[in-house]
Amino acid sequence: MTIRVKASKEYDVFVNNDLNALADYVFDGEKVAVITDENVNALYHDYFADYFVDKEVFTYVVKAGEESKSAAVYIDLLNKLARDGFNRKDLVVAFGGGVVGDLSGFVASTFMRGIKFISVPTTLLADVDSSVGGKTAINLDVGKNLCGTFYQPDGVYINVEFLKTLPSREIACGKGEIAKYSLLLGEKISLENMSDCIARCLRYKKEIVEKDEFEGGLRKLLNLGHTFGHAVEKYENYSLSHGECVGVGLRYALKISRILNGLTDGNVKAVEDILDYYGCPDRDYPYDELLSIVKHDKKGNASGVDMVLINKELKPIVQFVTFEQLKEISL
Ligand SMILES: NC(=O)c1ccc[n+]([C@@H]2O[C@H](COP(=O)([O-])OP(=O)(O)OC[C@H]3O[C@@H](n4cnc5c(N)ncnc54)[C@H](O)[C@@H]3O)[C@@H](O)[C@H]2O)c1
Ligand SMILES: [Zn+2]
Repeated sequence: MTIRVKASKEYDVFVNNDLNALADYVFDGEKVAVITDENVNALYHDYFADYFVDKEVFTYVVKAGEESKSAAVYIDLLNKLARDGFNRKDLVVAFGGGVVGDLSGFVASTFMRGIKFISVPTTLLADVDSSVGGKTAINLDVGKNLCGTFYQPDGVYINVEFLKTLPSREIACGKGEIAKYSLLLGEKISLENMSDCIARCLRYKKEIVEKDEFEGGLRKLLNLGHTFGHAVEKYENYSLSHGECVGVGLRYALKISRILNGLTDGNVKAVEDILDYYGCPDRDYPYDELLSIVKHDKKGNASGVDMVLINKELKPIVQFVTFEQLKEISL
């Protein structure tokens, strides 16, 4: 399956096990920088042995985990590329999950003002969400993803075989984002065939990214479940996976939608069934504390926040919700 994304840069997303897609990738440069993390490197250090055979391949391994999305690691990688003689014709390959993808994308977009970039995602979250769409990021002391660029890749090569070694917690993480797509699409996306499932999510994301690459409006829909999801992430001191928190955030979005938009019990039940199918955690958090985290989130203004909610017809909508309204709900 090939999905063509027509954003400011046009590129293909290959969703298959057909490794030849990657073999067909050509670029003018002589060097390849494979940026990966220690877990992925331990499992798949030979993965590129059959590719880029006529190129000089450098592998840069960062620590696994969110802390690698830091300014220090970012600068270190830039220095390594410069030291190893990379130029703008050369290629950066993101080989890993969303952490490696966000970090490598930011490196690729800024090294010499932009170098070739392809993505080989290895987690379910990266397959269904982060590898496509061009958002790159590192974290700052004040908050997550506060520094980054929009930089579309030159290609995305998804191979579901990588999911076989992914810990169940990380599978659960990816399902949180799939649940999001399922609500956005208004249909249950089957988990039976992972390639089909990934393609379904990415086709939706592609449509949105093509219409609103730089998140002027429509793309905000992709933040369904993320207002309270981010609050839960922070409340838990980032000890839970992103997708798991999104799963919780979707439950909050549903509860708030029910009250503010008057969803019927039947509709609420239908959405809950979908969230159950993807194993979204149904946990209660101290609502006041989550609300105060939401208030301090940089994305809001003094009086309220744009949330993605669900309307009576079960369609997602971007809706400005005041903190007064949220306070009165008192979940
Ligand atoms: N750019 C975007 O649009 C976007 C969208 C959603 C999330 N994100 C970002 O993505 C990040 C989360 O990504 P993630 O959930 O993929 O986390 P991750 O990259 O930390 O990967 C999760 C864990 O799985 C390990 N791993 C990766 N592939 C593996 C494999 N095939 N087998 C075994 N272990 C493997 C990693 O080493 C890591 O320990 C967050 O930083 C989030 O902000 C970005
Ligand atoms: Zn997310």
